Amino acid sequence: NSLNTKYKAKGKQYWGTCGDQGTLSQSQCAQVVKDDFGALTPENSLKWDATCVVFLYMVSYVPLLMQPGVHWVSSIGDKNTLTTVIQNHATTLVTRYKGKIAKWDVVNEMFNEDGSVRSSVFSNVLGTTFVDIAFNAARAADGSAKLYINDYNLDSVNSKVNGLVNLVNQKKSAGVPIDGIGSQAHLSAGQTGGFLAALQKLASTSVTEVAVTELDIVNAASNDYLAISNACLQVPKCVGITSWGVSDKDSWRASSNPLLFNGSFQPKPAYTALINSL
Ligand code: XIL
Repeated sequence: NSLNTKYKAKGKQYWGTCGDQGTLSQSQCAQVVKDDFGALTPENSLKWDATCVVFLYMVSYVPLLMQPGVHWVSSIGDKNTLTTVIQNHATTLVTRYKGKIAKWDVVNEMFNEDGSVRSSVFSNVLGTTFVDIAFNAARAADGSAKLYINDYNLDSVNSKVNGLVNLVNQKKSAGVPIDGIGSQAHLSAGQTGGFLAALQKLASTSVTEVAVTELDIVNAASNDYLAISNACLQVPKCVGITSWGVSDKDSWRASSNPLLFNGSFQPKPAYTALINSL
């Protein structure tokens, strides 16, 4: 009778959560993940800055200098070099977890709120062809994994939703292997009224699936959680929901208590409301 079991009984693939070593090493957290959730997204550990740190070994007076994060990627100005770096990153990670990771967030947060393409080293050097490069490399590395484009503030039919839909349609017709669209859903309280329409709009593209990928809602009002759960249930292409964490105390928005379990890993009213609705 877990959340995941009951959501699957309604025809969905999973209700999941995110975690990493720091959260999952707490036994209570690990227990809730096993008991209630059916999918796990690495919260940070597969990001560029966690996987592509360059260590520069210096002679002279500085024995070891770590050049942290993705600074070395941000400073690439040459198209061919950046293309190779993207291909290496996607190929290395997707190959390493081939058959173990079912779905990848290949391109994350590439849009501005007005639907235009966000400035980044990738778009500045390569235009939107960085999308083609990343998805093609991921598909070549694992032909079975579902490949997603993911973004936030896709919570009503707005300019960002329209920009994303236009780009996905354009890339899909050009043969870029985008399988799914993820709506992060980091929501404010009472911000759920337009969610269903937006999810339907995302699902109206030729992707085979959409998902709610990082759900958390300020103050975790039961009716807001029910609205998102029901929106996914009403959209046939919606395969599942991922809560962005287990306990409020470990949330990246901890001060707004947005998750389904409190700081003692006890289920909150929104959890009970969800279970009762399924
Ligand atoms: C957040 C993590 O939850 C935090 O631990 C980290 O410090 C910052 O990133 N959108 C995303 C996620 O795509 O990667 C973000 O995760 C939350 C917003």
